[in-house]
Amino acid sequence: MTPTSPCWSKGFKMGMPDSETVWASLHVIVIAATAMIMSVSATPPADPIRCTSSGCTITNSYGAFPDRTTCKAGAAAYPTSEEELAWVVGNATRSKRKMKVVTRFSHSIPKLVCPDGEEGLLVSTKYMNGIVRVDQEGMRMSVEGGVTLRQLIEEAAKAGMALPYTPYWWGLTVGGMLGTGAHGSSLWGKGSALHDHVEAMRIVSPGGPGDGYARIRTLDANTKSSHAEMNAVKVSLGVLGVISQVTLKLQPLFKRSLTYSIKGDSDLGEQAASFGNQHEFADIMWYPSQQKAVYRIDDRVSLDASGNGLYDSTPFRSTPSLTLALVRSTAEELQESVNDADGKCNTAKLISSTLQTGAYGLTNNGVIFTGYPVIGYQNRLQSSGTCLDSFQDGLITACPWDPRVKGEFFHQTTFSIGLSVVKSFIEDIQKLITLEPKALCGVELYNGILMRYVKASSPYLGKQEDAVDFDITYYRSKNPLSPRLYEDVLEEIEQMALIKYGALPHWGKNRNLAFDGAIKRYKSAQEFLKVKKMYDPMGLFSSEWTDQVLGLKEGPSIVRDGCALEGLCICSQDAHCAPNKGYYCKPGKVYGEARVCTRISSKTQ
Ligand SMILES: Cc1cc2nc3c(=O)[nH]c(=O)nc-3n(C[C@H](O)[C@H](O)[C@H](O)COP(=O)(O)OP(=O)(O)OC[C@H]3O[C@@H](n4cnc5c(N)ncnc54)[C@H](O)[C@@H]3O)c2cc1C
Ligand SMILES: *[C@@H]1O[C@H](CO)[C@@H](O)[C@H](O)[C@H]1NC(C)=O
Repeated sequence: MTPTSPCWSKGFKMGMPDSETVWASLHVIVIAATAMIMSVSATPPADPIRCTSSGCTITNSYGAFPDRTTCKAGAAAYPTSEEELAWVVGNATRSKRKMKVVTRFSHSIPKLVCPDGEEGLLVSTKYMNGIVRVDQEGMRMSVEGGVTLRQLIEEAAKAGMALPYTPYWWGLTVGGMLGTGAHGSSLWGKGSALHDHVEAMRIVSPGGPGDGYARIRTLDANTKSSHAEMNAVKVSLGVLGVISQVTLKLQPLFKRSLTYSIKGDSDLGEQAASFGNQHEFADIMWYPSQQKAVYRIDDRVSLDASGNGLYDSTPFRSTPSLTLALVRSTAEELQESVNDADGKCNTAKLISSTLQTGAYGLTNNGVIFTGYPVIGYQNRLQSSGTCLDSFQDGLITACPWDPRVKGEFFHQTTFSIGLSVVKSFIEDIQKLITLEPKALCGVELYNGILMRYVKASSPYLGKQEDAVDFDITYYRSKNPLSPRLYEDVLEEIEQMALIKYGALPHWGKNRNLAFDGAIKRYKSAQEFLKVKKMYDPMGLFSSEWTDQVLGLKEGPSIVRDGCALEGLCICSQDAHCAPNKGYYCKPGKVYGEARVCTRISSKTQ
């Protein structure tokens, strides 16, 4: 066992440590981490792991999984190097203990982080956050698995390098992005997913007595024998072990020029199919009820082009708790409770025009916005998330979805639709809007439908064809049995996408029903399972959730009263909706095969 990563632990004895020393240091780290979590009432996001003497709980950054259960674990370990990580994995493997990798913020919505039972081990990558190597000549950077996107971008820029395409939110970690296939938007080059830019990886998986019950594998794109395994590890849902190190291929830092252009959405179907080929960083924000689309015209420009633009995305900024509470209780809860669709539409218009005036958080020089185009360096425009570094202000401000304040609470339905059928899908949504013009005002409160380009890619659980990824965010009631306004339209769009158009769900978002049968749409899913069997034959990194999603157990739908309201099932009986509140299970209006919770009384209003 000779890890190439430097030792990041403080005062940790290096070399081939004897087990005594390792256990002692690990113990100290676990206790120190626990104490830190308990003593600081920070305004940056909370640690998703909470441990007491009787065990641990784990949640995501929203504080709620789709089924609202709480996940338990027996303990949490915070290794600070690959070597410690291998000891942790080995020790748990020896006693056949279930494990899950947990990141600093745990941003995925589905139950990917939950180990089965109550005795599992949470392996946190919080302190595996070092930059291992910066290779300017080869345009590469090697980082530990827990490094955040923000760190990655900053460190690369210091060396004059950049990742061409990334997600838009700083808080994700390298391991987590690979876990779920996270992406930005582009059809150019190798594509917009982080995994498309991976050159090498190191992963720690369960082993046998010969290797201390933990095996460290090195995978390299230049070694042919690595290819099959790389295709599995690049998008792994966390079931293959812990990725300890990743080497990414970068580019020389460049500048780009961005203009948001607002148009009517009548030809959106046509445009969406071709826009991604016209601009390298194209994306589209769609406001279907306002019948508008905002096109991001965004391309590389020469380094001489003047401008020092900055993107500090407004929805990812630290926001006063008072504002959040106000928006939640009036614009959402009140309007929902009295079925005030007009009120929602008015608020949506106000919010989108405010964002538009504020250029969505863009400035030409880091201070003010004076007009398009905004020209600047890639590292200042590609991603943001300043709510992560909120001051310790006792929750006066926070990320808008921080569960400790009364703020955003939403469902997110996110899937990719093949480029060849995207026009037809968009036109189907437009037909629905013709029938129910106000139906998507609620989605516009969350800045509309974000449409991003993703490219077909070789990982077994990656995108199967070039596609447009649709990101739809909408109100979720604190009461799981409470229906939402135009529930039926959102459900119809969701089912239309998944069933009629064979969409692929984003692994890190969505509600349970989106994953039902989804694995069948991956042509090499069996290859993935082969690698899983080789890396983790006992399934220690697997859970009921991942088995369901991977088709090894019955699907992840949960059928019970009210289940369709939370996307835990597709309704087949009225009881799956909210008949006592006037919502019954009915066929879709455009896609007749859909079964959706429709409010019957609204017909007569
Ligand atoms: C505000 C916000 C903005 C977002 N923006 C985007 C976006 O622009 N594009 C996009 O595609 N997605 C986006 N997402 C979703 C996000 O990409 C996924 O949820 C992502 O996987 C979360 O990363 P994470 O580091 O929080 O990982 P987690 O959610 O903690 O983990 C995800 C999975 O990866 C596994 N895992 C984590 N680390 C490792 C490791 N080192 N080794 C092995 N397995 C590991 C975990 O066990 C889990 O199964 C966004 C989410 C939020 C909250
Ligand atoms: C090693 O594994 C055993 C059995 O699961 C567990 O009780 C012990 O706490 C583990 N040690 C560490 C340091 O994780």
